[in-house]
This record gives sequence, C-alpha cells and structure tokens, in this order.
Amino acid sequence: MAQERPADREDVPFFDGSASFEREWPDLERHLNEVFDASKYSHGIKTEQLEEEIRRFTGARYAVAMNSGTDALILLLRAAGIGPGDEVVVPCYSFFATASSVCHAGARPVFVDVEPETYAIDPAAIKAAVTGRTRAVMPVHLFNQMADMPAINAVAAEAGIAVVEDSAEAIAMFQGGVHAGLHGLGGVLSFFPTKTLGAIGDAGMVITDDALVADRCAVLRHHGRMGTTVGRISGISNAASISGTNSKTDEVQAAALLTRLPRLARAVARRAELARLYDEGLAGISEVRRPSLVDRGVAANPVWYVYLVEAQRRDELAAFLAAEGIGTEAYYPRPLHLQPCFADLGHRPGDFPVAEAAADRALALPLYPDLTADQVDRVCRAVERFYAGGAR
Ligand SMILES: Cc1ncc(COP(=O)(O)O)c(C=O)c1O
Repeated sequence: MAQERPADREDVPFFDGSASFEREWPDLERHLNEVFDASKYSHGIKTEQLEEEIRRFTGARYAVAMNSGTDALILLLRAAGIGPGDEVVVPCYSFFATASSVCHAGARPVFVDVEPETYAIDPAAIKAAVTGRTRAVMPVHLFNQMADMPAINAVAAEAGIAVVEDSAEAIAMFQGGVHAGLHGLGGVLSFFPTKTLGAIGDAGMVITDDALVADRCAVLRHHGRMGTTVGRISGISNAASISGTNSKTDEVQAAALLTRLPRLARAVARRAELARLYDEGLAGISEVRRPSLVDRGVAANPVWYVYLVEAQRRDELAAFLAAEGIGTEAYYPRPLHLQPCFADLGHRPGDFPVAEAAADRALALPLYPDLTADQVDRVCRAVERFYAGGAR
C-alpha cells in the first residue's frame, strides 16, 4: 500500500507475509518439486493431500477443495439443494460473498442484524425472518470467535431449516469440541492470503460430515465431472444447480497450504499474543472500543484472524495512520442490506442499527504472525497521538 509517511518511520503494512515465506521456502520447494514431477497443476496430488490434512485437522468426514471460499459457499448452497424461490437468512454485516453466494445459487438473501459484541448473526432475529420459503440460515464466524451455534441450531431445528456456515474466517475455531463449519449441514474455509491459513493466491474448501453434500460439491466443482455423473446429483430439482463449474484447486496453492498447515498452531498462538499486546497498548484510549470475547456457555477457543476495534472518527483515524505508514482496513464499511445491488430488497438506513453503527466505526489493525511487538506498539502510540490532537 503506497502511503505518504515521514521518511524516518518504519512501515507497518496491513498485511505482510514475506518473512514467513522465506522460512517456509525449503518446504514449499519440496512440495512444488513433487507437483512438477507429477506434471499435473490443477487438482492433483497436493490437492488430495490437502483435503486429507484438512479432514484430519478439522475432524470433518469430507473436505472438498475449490478455488476460493466464495465458490465453496456457492457450491455448498447448491449442493444443499437451495435454488430459485428459496430464501436464506444471512447476517447483514459480513464479507460480500455471504450474501452474493445466495444470489449465485439462485435464491434470495434475507438480512437480519448482528450481535454488538461479536458481530455474529443474532439468533433471536433469525426466528422473526423465517417465512414459508426459508430453506437455510447462514451464520458467519467473524474476526476472532464463533456465532452462537447452540442457539442458532435450536432456532433452525424449530423452523425446520438447514444450517450452512460461512466459516471462511474460522479455521482452527472450535465450539463444544466441534470445528467451525461442522455444526450444521456444512461450512467453508477460505485460504485467501491474509487468512489465518492463507495460500499465495486464491483457494477455498467445503467441509461437511454429510456424504451426499460432499459428493454433490465434488461433482459441481468440475463441470458436473464433465457431465458424466450429473445424474448422481439426485434431489436437486433446478437445472441451474446441476450444471457444474470449474472450481478445481491450483496445485501451487495446495502446496503452499500443505507447507503452512503444520505451522498453523504456532501462527494462531502468535496472533493471540499480538492481540494481547494490542489490548494492553490500547487500554487507556477511551475513544477506541477493543474487541471482546463472549462466553457462549460451551468450550470455545478464539482465533485472532482480525483485530477489529470500533473507533470514534474512524475514517480520520485511518487517514492519520496511513500518513504514519500504518495500513488499516475498514471491515466492513457498508452493511450488505445497504449495498446498491440489493436495493430491490427495499432496505433503508436504520433497518439494522447494530450493523450500521459497526460499519461506521469498525477498523481492523495490522495482525499477522510476522508483525513484531514494536510494530504493535507503534500502532498503539499512533492511535494515542491521533486522539491527543494528532502531533507526531
Ligand atoms: C466471511 C467471509 N465469507 C466469504 C469469504 C470469501 O472467501 P474468498 O475470498 O476465498 O472467496 C471471505 C473471505 O474473504 C470471508 O471473510
């Protein structure tokens, strides 16, 4: 990110994985050599090994690799039999793909508000949004902790709808001993480079314990396996859902992920340590609300994918930090119900106040294993200076 900054100051980019990459290179080179020896660069041996390793790590019975988390969401919904005429309840505060995947499956997203502390879908709001056309609810696990899965599953069971998790950000998060994505019909993982387990390009995956869903996803990711086994996609009634696409996985990405998976536990621990340093460094700044973890009454572990604060004068703060050489991101600056592409759903500002307040105030600070304690301190001191009047 190119930014004007005082020449004597060190950059704190929003994301930087170059030091890790250097350490990982010998292992990555070994995996890549096997790819070149096999001369199969799309969905080959490394993709299959990755699926096996993710099954082992998450405890999923099935793992179906794809070329992004977005594709994984679309094909998971289609594999769940969701299509035209159906509604899927989604939180209005999330990454765009949470809602767009529903549209790509041919269905209609129905937005509801989120909880103020966790930004996860509000279980009480789901019940009110269910109609005769509702087929599923899609909780999203954002930033550092999971949605309230026991409560969501109870509401879904009562309404007779499926639970499909957008667990794109939630690798290594468990609740009640069950990995994110495995609390309902299935979930997804995104391996976008900035993710807790990130590739060096795009990749994603469906994880599920349901054999039929897994089989359908595997068929759909490769043009219905070139049309030969389309007939196996039983129980899906709409034609759009049975024609597949190309969402096979790049072997270079699978090799990068196999290199990084054994280092994941260390990366998660490092992220937690950095989050603790941010907590300490920002503690005295009343204009900044630090992230808080909510006890769901079941065993759960936070995973610090994003360190998200809510800040007064957020945009001014972000500009100030940019001028100091510090990268930040507003996650998510416009809630989904107010995106122009969803205007025909008829929402207005004020419909979902929790999400709208968060969208005005939320700012993600740099957080990745290569970040140093000094860099965290630099960010905290810059935030402090901003609220003290902006002197450098
Ligand atoms: C909550 C959420 N859903 C879906 C996605 C989509 O994943 P991808 O970027 O791999 O397509 C992401 C990742 O950016 C995400 O954070």
